[in-house]
Amino acid sequence: MAQLLDGRALSCQLGPALRSRVAALHRPPGLAVIHLGDDPASAIYVNSKRKRAARLGFFQRSLTISADTTQADLLALVADLNGDDAIDGILIQLPLPAQIDATTVLDAIRPDKDVDGFHPRNVGLLSQGRPRFVACTARGCMALLAQSQVAVCGASAVVIGRSNIVGRPMAMLLEKANATVTLCHSRTRDLPDLVAQADIVVAAVGRPRFVQGSWLKQGAVVIDVGINRLEDGGLVGDVDFASALPRCAAITPVPGGVGPMTITMLMHNTVDSAERRQGRG
Ligand code: GUN
Repeated sequence: MAQLLDGRALSCQLGPALRSRVAALHRPPGLAVIHLGDDPASAIYVNSKRKRAARLGFFQRSLTISADTTQADLLALVADLNGDDAIDGILIQLPLPAQIDATTVLDAIRPDKDVDGFHPRNVGLLSQGRPRFVACTARGCMALLAQSQVAVCGASAVVIGRSNIVGRPMAMLLEKANATVTLCHSRTRDLPDLVAQADIVVAAVGRPRFVQGSWLKQGAVVIDVGINRLEDGGLVGDVDFASALPRCAAITPVPGGVGPMTITMLMHNTVDSAERRQGRG
């Protein structure tokens, strides 16, 4: 039977060590979470992040602002947070409304407060194999793999999806851990054949139950990053869980797999930042 890679359980397990790092700081870690508009899915994610930060005793600036905020106003807010010494991490929940150029705004966040790891400086450091802030979902997937004791070194890994948020940083982390990585996307030919070669499959495409169990090599490890809301209200991943389960050695459930780890790694990145900014990192 496949091992379930339980992100809730791992998040709980990592809690005490994180709490003692928070307790050792001169002042609580400071996190600013900016959310534009009223997209219900984003509101749920943002609330989970704020709740977790509150439970850990972080100082927070929670900024939920109107969907028609101008780019200039958002940039002014980022500049204010960049200069606020109580803030160690700035997160702008994506996606952003159409009038905002996400690249311009994300590039304006100070790299040493970029707890999402999206700034080109942090992406560049990761690509050179000397990571500082690493995108939270990718960092969370690596923590799940580490916990499962899957041998990443020398493994063949297929990452499906080349987003800056998940696919690209995930491919870089797997490569840094000495996997041989194939980064697949919507134009990839013969995707099932490539997946069939993989010891590790990471699905981050945003299409419900896209990856079929029949594509998987027997004994593969499957990390499902997808969180797709069905019309009946149910949540499913990018992998067809029922058909994947009998073929794989380990798999992340949806919900309760990667999702909680994204939030946990945001907390870790914020504590890392606070330690560095207080000269303890
Ligand atoms: N939207 C979906 N995932 C993420 C994430 O990891 N960070 C931010 N800022 N927005 C997201």
